[in-house]
Amino acid sequence: MAKSRSIFVCNGCGAESPQYFGRCPVCGSWNTLIEQAPPVGEAGNSRVGVVAGRSRSPKERRNQKDQGPRLALTLAQIEDRPQPRSPSGYGELDRVLGGGIVPGSLVLVGGDPGIGKSTLLLQVANHLSAQIPVLYVCAEESGQQVKLRSQRLGIGREPADKGADPEASNPQHPGLYLLPEIDLETILMELEALHPPVAVIDSIQALYYNALTSAPGSVSQVRECTSALMQLAKREDITLFIVGHVTKEGAIAGPKVLEHLVDTVLYFEGDRFASHRLLRSVKNRFGATHELGVFEMVDRGLQEVSNPSELFLGNRDEAVPGIATIVACEGTRPLVVELQALVSPTSYSSPRRTATGIEYNRLLQILAVLEKRVGIPLSKLDAYVASSGGLNVGEPAADLGIAIAVAASFRDRTVDPYTALIGEVGLGGQVRPISQLDLRLKEAAKLGFKRAIVPKGQGGTDSVLEVVPVGRVMDAIALALGAAS
Ligand code: TYD
Ligand code: MG
Repeated sequence: MAKSRSIFVCNGCGAESPQYFGRCPVCGSWNTLIEQAPPVGEAGNSRVGVVAGRSRSPKERRNQKDQGPRLALTLAQIEDRPQPRSPSGYGELDRVLGGGIVPGSLVLVGGDPGIGKSTLLLQVANHLSAQIPVLYVCAEESGQQVKLRSQRLGIGREPADKGADPEASNPQHPGLYLLPEIDLETILMELEALHPPVAVIDSIQALYYNALTSAPGSVSQVRECTSALMQLAKREDITLFIVGHVTKEGAIAGPKVLEHLVDTVLYFEGDRFASHRLLRSVKNRFGATHELGVFEMVDRGLQEVSNPSELFLGNRDEAVPGIATIVACEGTRPLVVELQALVSPTSYSSPRRTATGIEYNRLLQILAVLEKRVGIPLSKLDAYVASSGGLNVGEPAADLGIAIAVAASFRDRTVDPYTALIGEVGLGGQVRPISQLDLRLKEAAKLGFKRAIVPKGQGGTDSVLEVVPVGRVMDAIALALGAAS
């Protein structure tokens, strides 16, 4: 039978075309056309076509009215089904998921290659498989390779030990089932047959739906495969963890639509050369976003780090000029982070500014405030600012720490390593209030800090720390640099 032809749909404006264009003929944006599967069956045969196309007699319509709406329900009519969350075995993952795994949810896990996505999900799958059957679809690796990894991780409970266990042939028997397969239809069939409460797809870019002509990993393949998996998962109440690769720009490959389809989007990130890994939620239908889970990659897989502040805190016995400590907040998790600054005379006509782990524009703004409001002449100086461990601290509460680290480097002075700096810096040179001050102070106290410089008028006076409120960044600098030098 001849294959019906695919259509090309613009990701930007939704325009359809029978052929591919590099530039959408309707909205003019480049590289937005994606191939889409031909519609299943003829339009006239579809359910929508039948219902919409049928002309009903006035009598029929009256009858329908009398019966009232049959498909739409009121909130009260919807069955109240409590959805207990199940622990994944990793508190850090549960925290990011909003308190555990929600049955029937779709979780997309993105991250650079080699960051540890497969390792994390294999560990989680292994933990869950003690209680329930878990299907791990290893589309990128052979069963042998996964087995090797599991041996390295020290896991390898034999799920269906044939012969020894009479339960083994029962598909409901708890255990970790591997499926090295890329064909979408086979995977869907296996999911339906085994009906595992939890399944892992590693990775969505490797799956192949043969009704499409495009190669695995192309946007249309990724989109079609995800929506087919989603429909099955919602219908059968299967929790799906889907691994997604990221592009060079850092977004999950495939159209943005992918992120709209799933319930939760997690990003696994971290410096490949450092051992810590951060799991972040950027979308969560069942919990707060911007939660952070911290893991460490060791030679036997990923380990949880329950006190991550210690990871980002340097050696406090040795004071070095240009170092300041801040308390950042990631979701509900406070993190003590060391910031380092270095300013030095420039050899260029316009000075260099480098920001690692902090926002570049934020740095420029703070340098301008230091120049104009504090009188530090930075226009002939290069400025380099970095957060320890390359942790991304994008929030304004880091401003005061950045300003003080730069000022300390300029004056070649040290900041007392037991002083935490918390506050946003306004363009007028004022120190502005930030969120979750009490939480931050509590974390600083836990790590042995003695003093905190905080925005004026924000409270925090019941803290065990010595809390010093300041109104202007100039005063904060005098206070922080004066005390230790
Ligand atoms: P992997 O889970 O394969 O990454 P991804 O699926 O995100 O591409 O992780 C591979 C990296 O982790 C690899 O560089 C080796 C390292 N690793 C360890 O350091 N210890 C271990 O126990 C394992 C299994 C991997
Ligand atoms: Mg992998």
